[in-house]
Amino acid sequence: MARLLTVTLGCISLLYLQLPGALSLGLARSRPPTRHRAEVTGPNAEFPVDLRPEETPDPDPPLVSQPDMEPGAAKDKDSFRNYTSGPLLDRVFATYKLMHTWQTVDFVRRKHAQFGGFSYKRMTVMEAVDMLDGLVDESDPDVDFPNSFHAFQTAEGIREAHPDKDWFHLVGLLHDLGKVLALAGEPQWAVVGDTFPVGCRPQASVVFRDCTFQANPDLQHPLYSTELGMYQPHCGLENVLMSWGHDEYMYRMMKFNKFALPPEAFYIVRFHSFYPWHKFGDYQQLCNEQDLAMLPWVQEFNKFDLYTKSSSLPDVAALRPYYQGLVDKYCPGVLCW
Ligand SMILES: [Fe+2]
Ligand SMILES: [Fe+2]
Repeated sequence: MARLLTVTLGCISLLYLQLPGALSLGLARSRPPTRHRAEVTGPNAEFPVDLRPEETPDPDPPLVSQPDMEPGAAKDKDSFRNYTSGPLLDRVFATYKLMHTWQTVDFVRRKHAQFGGFSYKRMTVMEAVDMLDGLVDESDPDVDFPNSFHAFQTAEGIREAHPDKDWFHLVGLLHDLGKVLALAGEPQWAVVGDTFPVGCRPQASVVFRDCTFQANPDLQHPLYSTELGMYQPHCGLENVLMSWGHDEYMYRMMKFNKFALPPEAFYIVRFHSFYPWHKFGDYQQLCNEQDLAMLPWVQEFNKFDLYTKSSSLPDVAALRPYYQGLVDKYCPGVLCW
């Protein structure tokens, strides 16, 4: 309740701020404008061990017993994902305003068609990591340095906590590579940021929920504006159309290129930005047993995705040989993007 009040007050105050010109474009009913990510904290919900199915591979002790640890945290846990204040707030809000205005069922379907053939570029995983040297995520209130460092920070955090799970280390490196879309001319609001299901009413925990969706046409749609929207109860997140961005694109790219990783890896990549679900427990009406089984993995990953963000940058050159070995093992060669 207190968080909701804080966010609401933040939204109201932001409406009175001088916002970048790009925001006014978001309110105009024409083509989606170009360019432009973010997030909110909360306790890492414990997941009932008895809901984990037999086939979920060996959840190790850290997954079960240390849900609140802050791997490599360089600052206080509660200071991450601040959407009510901070030096980057205007940029973050502008990105979400555009995203929440233009991400519709129709828009997402068009992006699936546009990028589903993976004919944009051919390159290796490490070449994609290098591309992210040129990207600063405009939705992220905690990071103002190139995304390539974040890839290694996340991977190293996981490696330290889970030394026996090399596939998990690689997920840390891979998870944001879909952001190369922003370097292919896609606007950041269609690449970065928290994700949410389209085709149903956005739920309360979506960032800036109360002040960014006013101009989204789907909220006037008789079906898409309802709680279940175009979905059947407990249809499973794999059957839900998520807002388009780097999660879904990278998941599909990994499938297309037949990455030799476990199902958990694909799932983590696909839903790592779905904070309204994995952090706040919303959208339960869309989840099935598989989603509940995978949730602890997404939450475990999130500790490293979020709390390893630090301005103390890793020695990428020294780390590179280790990760090149993982790439060669699980996703070698030149890939289709
Ligand atoms: Fe991400
Ligand atoms: Fe990330």
